[in-house]
Amino acid sequence: MREIRVAVLGAAGWMGKVHSMAYQTFPHFFGTSNGTARVATLVVSNAKAASELAPLFPDAKILLDWQAAVADPEIDLIDICLPDSLHYVVAKAALLAGKHVFCEKPLANTAAEARELADIARDKNLITRVGHAFPRNPVHDLAKEIIDAGEIGEIKMFRGCQHVDVFGDPNAPFMWRADGNLAPTGIVGDTGSHIFSFMAFLVGRVSSLVADNIITTPRRPVVSGIGYGENVELTGHEEWADITNPDATNLICRFENGASGIVDFSRVATGRKFMQTYEIYGTKGSLAYTYDEINRLRFYSGADGIGRRGFREIDVGPESETYRAFLPLPNFSLGYNESKIIEAAEVIRSIVSGRPMWPTFETGHHICQIVDACMDSARLKRWVDIPLT
Ligand SMILES: NC(=O)c1ccc[n+]([C@@H]2O[C@H](COP(=O)([O-])OP(=O)(O)OC[C@H]3O[C@@H](n4cnc5c(N)ncnc54)[C@H](O)[C@@H]3O)[C@@H](O)[C@H]2O)c1
Repeated sequence: MREIRVAVLGAAGWMGKVHSMAYQTFPHFFGTSNGTARVATLVVSNAKAASELAPLFPDAKILLDWQAAVADPEIDLIDICLPDSLHYVVAKAALLAGKHVFCEKPLANTAAEARELADIARDKNLITRVGHAFPRNPVHDLAKEIIDAGEIGEIKMFRGCQHVDVFGDPNAPFMWRADGNLAPTGIVGDTGSHIFSFMAFLVGRVSSLVADNIITTPRRPVVSGIGYGENVELTGHEEWADITNPDATNLICRFENGASGIVDFSRVATGRKFMQTYEIYGTKGSLAYTYDEINRLRFYSGADGIGRRGFREIDVGPESETYRAFLPLPNFSLGYNESKIIEAAEVIRSIVSGRPMWPTFETGHHICQIVDACMDSARLKRWVDIPLT
């Protein structure tokens, strides 16, 4: 059994905690024959975070400098859970140091940066992964199986959306996600990239699009120490920061296979705590999914007899190997954290056994191409083409 030594960067944040938990947990569900992971290093941004994590990882190094983790010969895998703008520079340094890299989304600030990362990884034969965990819930493997078997025929239309209301209130405090320096593409790279990952997994490459990016609230109060999604009573003495990246986007696209798509996403949809849906319409049938029923796929088949047609609800269950790894009975549901455990297991298995996985930096690059096209289209106010592979 091979043990992969991991450095988690941004370890005290939301994703840092989830990734660290996933490395420690996955062998309980997937066994040890495809390797295990040891969280050997945690990189945080301040001494308080370091002292809070120390008791949870008594054998780990806790560092304040990501460069030290990247240079450490003891580390096999660099796991990047830092704010968006740091992904490219850290991933590049890690790959050049010969480390495998698991990077949270969006992979990079631009498609050109993502291309460079994918090329370095290919040349150095290193394992890469982008943190698009949502499609790794086995219900989407079922969707892909149905599509690949031709059961919905040729895909003609895709509709997808993802919304939260974290910034719905105009007084919701400023944070790095709304700062164009730390998150250059705002909601497009943050949330759009998730819907783009479903598109890449289930439909195919996008060839062109037209997008409208919107900043709904131009300034927000600065409240120090505030966490994601937290609100506070304002004192009236706050400084106000300009919002320098998009809050919301509406877009229309064409896929290389001829299908068309309509997609919208935002962080300002008041009342929508987490809304994520897709619908895929083909010539012989259709699929529909909503995160509110996280393990359920709706499948309409034109092969059903006349008078018997309608969407059937399929709850993914233990017939799926991945679902069965966690639960023996149907309808107990796999949630967000299980998707991240699946991700960690796949990353370690790929390093140990070479088994291919999805999504690598190649897919991350295409998703960054879609993000770039949204930014360009909104700026230029016209359709933008994405180069063919
Ligand atoms: N895949 C998903 O579903 C998903 C969900 C949430 C976030 N994300 C992505 O994960 C990344 C992190 O997001 P988050 O929500 O965990 O953010 P977060 O703010 O909770 O965590 C980021 C952490 O990085 C630390 N940090 C910042 N700069 C640093 C530096 N130079 N050195 C060391 N530490 C530093 C911060 O102090 C913070 O603890 C983002 O890129 C985001 O887009 C992905």
